[in-house]
Amino acid sequence: MRLTGIAEVTALVTGAAGAIGAATARQLAAEGAVVAVADVDEDGAHTVARRLGGTAHPVRLDVTDSGEVERTVQDVEDRLGPIGILVNAAGVLGRTAPLTEQEDAEWERVFGVNVRGTFNCVRAVGRRMARRGRGCVITVASNSAGIVKYDQGLYGASKAAAQYLTNCAGLELAGHGVRSVVVAPGTTESPMSRANAHLPGRRQALLEGDPERHRVGIPRGTLAEPEDIASVIGFLVSDQAAHMTITTVTVDGGSTLRP
Ligand SMILES: NC(=O)c1ccc[n+]([C@@H]2O[C@H](COP(=O)([O-])OP(=O)(O)OC[C@H]3O[C@@H](n4cnc5c(N)ncnc54)[C@H](O)[C@@H]3O)[C@@H](O)[C@H]2O)c1
Repeated sequence: MRLTGIAEVTALVTGAAGAIGAATARQLAAEGAVVAVADVDEDGAHTVARRLGGTAHPVRLDVTDSGEVERTVQDVEDRLGPIGILVNAAGVLGRTAPLTEQEDAEWERVFGVNVRGTFNCVRAVGRRMARRGRGCVITVASNSAGIVKYDQGLYGASKAAAQYLTNCAGLELAGHGVRSVVVAPGTTESPMSRANAHLPGRRQALLEGDPERHRVGIPRGTLAEPEDIASVIGFLVSDQAAHMTITTVTVDGGSTLRP
């Protein structure tokens, strides 16, 4: 199926130096979008944009800073045209540990990027999309938002908040031609998942499940590749998904199955 409605649209992808963000930028560029490859990792954004070539542009952006988000969104629109697609892929896992052992600074970091960052971008871009009467917002949350997982209290709570914010924006903007969809990946091959899977036996437990920790594993038997998430995002921002909004699409190889 050839996707329509993406060619020549300007897309802002945050966290685009990362695994899922870069795969998404690649997917959207392949569909003909003009892509702002945005990340706090400026070198990483440059590398990804260089690999994508002509229609990709590196942008240094720290999503936690509302002033910087506002200025960057305006600058992207001035240079590349009105943003028709926003993909919030910037995120941090934070330290995986029981809640009773978490530090204040970790709360600030995880909620700063995953919640405040999503809010800053949805507000700045959503306002402009609503004025123009069109646009699509995707937030990459996590299946951790819907499953209570050991050691992921901060991360899961932040992703649940990002999901709520995105759905709420979708509700408020639906009458202005703006759609929003949350994508909830399961464990995906990336530096983020490797940070979590480096412990002996951890990867096996991720795949097969861990009854002691009420984890069901991944019934499909493999971690996702970033491209598995990006291809779903490509579909969701296209005209083929025109009737989808204020909803969550889980892409986790069946992990959300309850034990
Ligand atoms: N990898 C997984 O297993 C997995 C599973 C579920 C959800 N997710 C979510 O998918 C998204 C992408 O994760 P990934 O797997 O590609 O991880 P990743 O670590 O490869 O990418 C995350 C990117 O976000 C960027 N970033 C961090 N703080 C930022 C900030 N303040 N401003 C701008 N950019 C910032 C990082 O520089 C990095 O490039 C994240 O939101 C993550 O929570 C990942």
